[in-house]
Amino acid sequence: MLRQALLALSASKKTRELILATPVTRDVVSRFVAGETAADALAATERLISQGLHVTIDFLGEDTVDPDQATAVADEYIGLLRRLSETDLSARGRAEVSVKPTAVGLGLPDHGEKTARENIARIAAAARNAGTTVTVDMEDHTRIDATLRIVSELRADFPDLGCVIQSYLRRSADDCLDLAEAGSRVRLCKGAYRAPEGIGLANKADVDLSYARCMRILLDGPGYPMLATHDPRLIQIVGSKAQLVGREPGSFEYQMLYGIRPDEQARLAAEGAQVRVYLPYGSDWYGYLVRRLAERPANLAFFLRALSSRK
Ligand code: FDA
Repeated sequence: MLRQALLALSASKKTRELILATPVTRDVVSRFVAGETAADALAATERLISQGLHVTIDFLGEDTVDPDQATAVADEYIGLLRRLSETDLSARGRAEVSVKPTAVGLGLPDHGEKTARENIARIAAAARNAGTTVTVDMEDHTRIDATLRIVSELRADFPDLGCVIQSYLRRSADDCLDLAEAGSRVRLCKGAYRAPEGIGLANKADVDLSYARCMRILLDGPGYPMLATHDPRLIQIVGSKAQLVGREPGSFEYQMLYGIRPDEQARLAAEGAQVRVYLPYGSDWYGYLVRRLAERPANLAFFLRALSSRK
């Protein structure tokens, strides 16, 4: 309920201006975002890789309204991948990238899907040259069909192009069944957006149950599941299920967000599991920050405390 109210409030222009104008916001942002530049992202990536973790880098931005900006976002990814390759960070897929379809044009009024597909293809080609992969993030429920279509079409040329399924949607188990095939890389998360009653599950317990069901489908299948959650109970269930079906470490991975439960990331990696950290960078961090604050009252409290203690 609080989460839904926060996500709705954050869409208001006034709230956005207030949060952006607040000096302490930057301190809170730095907890979840690696920095504003590609150099910041590379430095954080190098640090995480030296700790035995894998990384997927997200250049922050969404809802691009101009084709030139969509091209510029794709170019940023291509430049980033070149630098990952030069520094050897992308070797054996240790660092890959995550791309939001609306950041590369999906929401454009004219030829949005085509623009996003072409830009993602350019990024996927650069990733292949760098010896690594791309995962296409999933955004709100109105973008799902177009996003899955883009991924399915591009997988003919880039079979390792990954996609994301969100367990808060009623359709997700069916999507997992469709995607649980050899070679497919699927990230499963709970979902950070809102959906109307008939489309999404409103109750947290139902979202968790759906996550467990989707996870079983993916781990039972022949693909490469990427289980993205910080939820201790679900992480435990993933471990048990993986053991039950004889999944070796390296045949699936855990994923968590930068700055969230770093001790758990380290613990799993120390046990030999493959753990990938989703590492965002860039100056367009507003939408990302709001979703992290809305996810957890403690994060909001941290933000409000910082506000009230400002000089
Ligand atoms: P849940 O929110 O129930 O939290 C379980 C526990 O985890 C909490 O009790 C707390 O201990 C910890 N925790 C969770 N969030 C926290 C936070 N913000 N701060 C501190 N502690 C926190 N979503 C989407 O819609 N599309 C996408 O493409 C992606 N991509 C993605 C990639 C990766 C690698 C991750 C980890 C997550 C995403 N997400 C996403 C976000 C995802 O949908 C979800 O919103 C968050 O992961 C939070 O859900 P949990 O599964 O962690 O459970």
